Amino acid sequence: MTDSKPRPVQITDLARWKADGRRFAMLTAYDYTTASLLDQAGIPILLVGDSLGGTMLGHRLRDGGPDTLPVTLEDMLSHAAAVARGAHHALLIGDLPFLSYHLGLDEATRSAGRMLKESGMQAVKLEGGGPMLEVVAHLTARGIPVMGHLGLTPQRVHAMGGLRVQGRGEGAAAQLRQEVLGLAQAGAFSVVLEGLPAQLAAELTVASPIATIGIGAGANCDGQVLVIHDMLGLTVGPVPKFVRRFAELGEATIAAATSFRDAVESGEYPSAQFSYE
Ligand code: KIV
Repeated sequence: MTDSKPRPVQITDLARWKADGRRFAMLTAYDYTTASLLDQAGIPILLVGDSLGGTMLGHRLRDGGPDTLPVTLEDMLSHAAAVARGAHHALLIGDLPFLSYHLGLDEATRSAGRMLKESGMQAVKLEGGGPMLEVVAHLTARGIPVMGHLGLTPQRVHAMGGLRVQGRGEGAAAQLRQEVLGLAQAGAFSVVLEGLPAQLAAELTVASPIATIGIGAGANCDGQVLVIHDMLGLTVGPVPKFVRRFAELGEATIAAATSFRDAVESGEYPSAQFSYE
């Protein structure tokens, strides 16, 4: 019997895509319905990002920007499980939130393990190089695939002095070169490069043995990721320069809700067509 369903994406596919020079897309998803739609659209990788702190939970920094720091592991597990129920083809990555992998290797293993065991994720993502390389090595040695995240790492927003482009200056660039290689050596299967000069991200991608996925890092990464609310035009408030709005669903939602309100207030809805005999 032949099965016409596409084979689910595996972490090993990313190495092949990089070797073949095949660019790929990743989007964030936080709920069942969106995950199901993105899966139907053939998006090969879905990230349940801790950006849900801003998009789904409304956490804000004092400057009004999105805040990921208050997001808990329980928040992530709940949204990740909903995404896993909606997507059957895409590779599913669950972000480890702030303070769920910083206190020690056991804590990191428990948090990451719960993402796989309780939420049905196939891999986790965590931010940082340096001391985090030990965490990456520990998790990957235990069979938990890890996607790294370097450059603008929102969990370090206060240390960075805001959500700012990183990697400017030779010292910062050299450190990023080391960290990309360090992540690969520690066993990470891919790395998100966020908020970097395009030229630097391109160099890192050529030098990197693992697939790079850019966001605000120019055109020459192996893959590209966007926050779903940003690219659908749903984000409340300004969006970063690198965001292209592929739809205006925020405006469409306001227009639809306004039509509904008017139809209810005028008595036009529900008409006989929308009523039971
Ligand atoms: O949390 C998130 O959505 C992310 C992406 C922006 C890469 O880390």
